[in-house]
Amino acid sequence: MANLIDGKKVSADVKQRVKNETEKLIAEKGITPGLAVVIVGDDPASRVYVNSKKKACTEVGFNSYEYALPGDTTQEELVELVNKLNEDPKVNGILCQLPLPSQIDENAVINTIKAEKDVDAFHPFNVGKIMIGEYAFLPCTPAGVMELIDSTGTEISGKNCVVIGRSNIVGKPMAMLLLHRSGTVTICHSKTQNLGEICKNADILVAAVGKANFVTEDMVKEGAVVIDVGMNRLENGKLCGDVDFQNVSRKASYITPVPGGVGPMTIAMLMQNTLTAAKAQNGLI
Ligand code: GUN
Repeated sequence: MANLIDGKKVSADVKQRVKNETEKLIAEKGITPGLAVVIVGDDPASRVYVNSKKKACTEVGFNSYEYALPGDTTQEELVELVNKLNEDPKVNGILCQLPLPSQIDENAVINTIKAEKDVDAFHPFNVGKIMIGEYAFLPCTPAGVMELIDSTGTEISGKNCVVIGRSNIVGKPMAMLLLHRSGTVTICHSKTQNLGEICKNADILVAAVGKANFVTEDMVKEGAVVIDVGMNRLENGKLCGDVDFQNVSRKASYITPVPGGVGPMTIAMLMQNTLTAAKAQNGLI
């Protein structure tokens, strides 16, 4: 039976570290990090995420500024807001909750965020930095996954690492972070042939597919570390990952639950990035 990787515990440790550093920053320099969270429309999942992000800001001692815009906001209006936030010294990090409504070009908005305030690490400048391993900000979800793998004491160097999913937000940067730690990385996606066989070679398997119970027991090597980035809502309303947890946990050495695995880590890493942004913008790193 696999050991559970407790994302709530690991994320609480990261947030505690951020909180301690924030107290010092406020006491010694009079700087309180600030995160602006922009939400457009009333997507219920986005609302839940945004509330969690604001709550985490309060927990670690940051200021948070919410901008809730109507669903029919134009691209020009959103870009104007981002430009205003770019120039606001109280705002160290800017996060536009995705997805944005269809009339808005997400890339146009992401490209407007000043790279030094891009705490999601979605701006092409920061994506480029990730490629060359010279990080300003680590992308939140992949960075959280790395913390979870490290919490197991698993050596990454030389291991077969398989990432299922090639999104810009998770799959691609995930592969880069594992590669920078000298993993032998394979990225699988919807067109991959023999996906099961490739996964079966993985010492470390990261599933970011967006399909409930996609990873089954027969695709997993005995003793593998299995990280489930999926967050799928079943018809009965229950949350479920990309991994058939019940059966895969019999084979894996370590596995993340959903919920309570990767989810809380993403927000903890966002807090870390916002702290880094505040320090950098005040010439402290
Ligand atoms: N929507 C789903 N995940 C994310 C994320 O990590 N950042 C932003 N901005 N939007 C998201």
